[in-house]
Amino acid sequence: MTIMTWTPSLDVGVSKMNDEHQGLLKLMNDLHDAHQAGKRGFEVLKILDALGAATVKHFADEEVYMESVNYPKLKTHKLIHQDLLKKFGTFSEAIHAKNGEIGDDFFTFLKLWLSAHIKGIDMEYSPSHLAQTAPKKFA
Ligand SMILES: [Fe+2]
Ligand SMILES: [Fe+2]
Repeated sequence: MTIMTWTPSLDVGVSKMNDEHQGLLKLMNDLHDAHQAGKRGFEVLKILDALGAATVKHFADEEVYMESVNYPKLKTHKLIHQDLLKKFGTFSEAIHAKNGEIGDDFFTFLKLWLSAHIKGIDMEYSPSHLAQTAPKKFA
């Protein structure tokens, strides 16, 4: 069972970022499927580590993109990414220590991260949102 499916409400208007978000979503669903199927150990940990690596790459790519469009809230967004990575790291260490046993709190964290972060924080760099909030030029 998937924990979350892609919907147009997650569309941030930047195709590379949408592709990466979909990749993260797939890994989260794969992880959930493996967990639900009763898998533990390497089969779970390899997906967890792939999700971690994809997340690090995505945050870096997203920060490069935001820089390229002079996104005004880049600094805050970077801090939020750092905080998410820290939390992910703490969960990941605990899951490794338990040889791939995952608690529901980790899936709750992942779901919240995807929905709240993409819809609330990432959405603010979407070209349509930036166009709406750009300061008006005085004539
Ligand atoms: Fe982000
Ligand atoms: Fe993102």
